[in-house]
Amino acid sequence: MTNTFAKDILKGLTAKHKYISSKYFYDDNGSRIFQEIMNMPDYYPTNAEFEILSMQSKQIVEALKFSGPFNIIELGAGDGFKTFKLLEYLVNNNVDFYYVPIDISQEAIDILTQQLKVKLPSLKIKPKVGDYFEILKGNRESDRQSLLLFLGGNIGNYQENEAKELLELFHKNMKVGDKLLTGFDLKKNPIIIQNAYFDKHGITKRFNLNLLIRINRELDADFKIDDFDFYSHYNPITGDVKSYIVSLRKQVVQLKAINETISFDYDELIWTELSKKYALEEIRDLAHNANFNENGNFLDCKHYFTDSLWEKR
Ligand code: AVJ
Repeated sequence: MTNTFAKDILKGLTAKHKYISSKYFYDDNGSRIFQEIMNMPDYYPTNAEFEILSMQSKQIVEALKFSGPFNIIELGAGDGFKTFKLLEYLVNNNVDFYYVPIDISQEAIDILTQQLKVKLPSLKIKPKVGDYFEILKGNRESDRQSLLLFLGGNIGNYQENEAKELLELFHKNMKVGDKLLTGFDLKKNPIIIQNAYFDKHGITKRFNLNLLIRINRELDADFKIDDFDFYSHYNPITGDVKSYIVSLRKQVVQLKAINETISFDYDELIWTELSKKYALEEIRDLAHNANFNENGNFLDCKHYFTDSLWEKR
């Protein structure tokens, strides 16, 4: 089999407990549905992080304690909506830095660059398209200090061991004294979380079922979308939000492009996403275990979300 998508989908759908990786949500259509999610009031993380960067950019920049010109490298910059507030603060205060947004999508980077040229004409920007780690590798050779941004709560999609591996990779590609600002969604009243991930408008359901539409298109499959539903559950003890697609019938699906057949039982699940919520103590442990010092947490006024600033030691 030639492509990773086909391999990963087949592996997940033939496992004892079926699963599809949440990284496959973000085709063009999925990215658009994710924008809709971010625009719904129930989905609090976007607003919370926007508030943090709007109100506390000064405090964050002071906590960096960088002595000379530096780089801000953003992993998965997307539309850069939240980061704008931080960049604006720095530009308005004549701080000398380069902004290096990295995204896998050329289109996202083009739009971001165009918008920043208009809104912050004096910003020095070096956009890069591609894989984080390939681009990060060049960073160790730079003589400037760097701030890495990993915002939005994307870390929540990683299971414990995967998060550890990811942080090791960041650490390996940073210089001692470089900083990492990561967005973590915090544990909070379960109802708030439930409403953000199992929304009444059915937008998150559409976001999940789009995975099946994508498989239909890319693997010439015949999923009948109406024969599947969506379920999401928050466990307030572990902090795990787990999301699933539910088969409403006993049914068989053909994946013609790879000549495979998948059977579903009545009510069988496909696990699609982990969105882990953290306590501040867990964040501190994560930092220390990955050889970072914590320089501070920047929370929104409701304490729903934190941007946690770490230093490589
Ligand atoms: C983009 C991974 C931060 O887990 O909250 C939103 C994706 N999934 N609603 C998250 C998502 C369901 C989101 N992240």
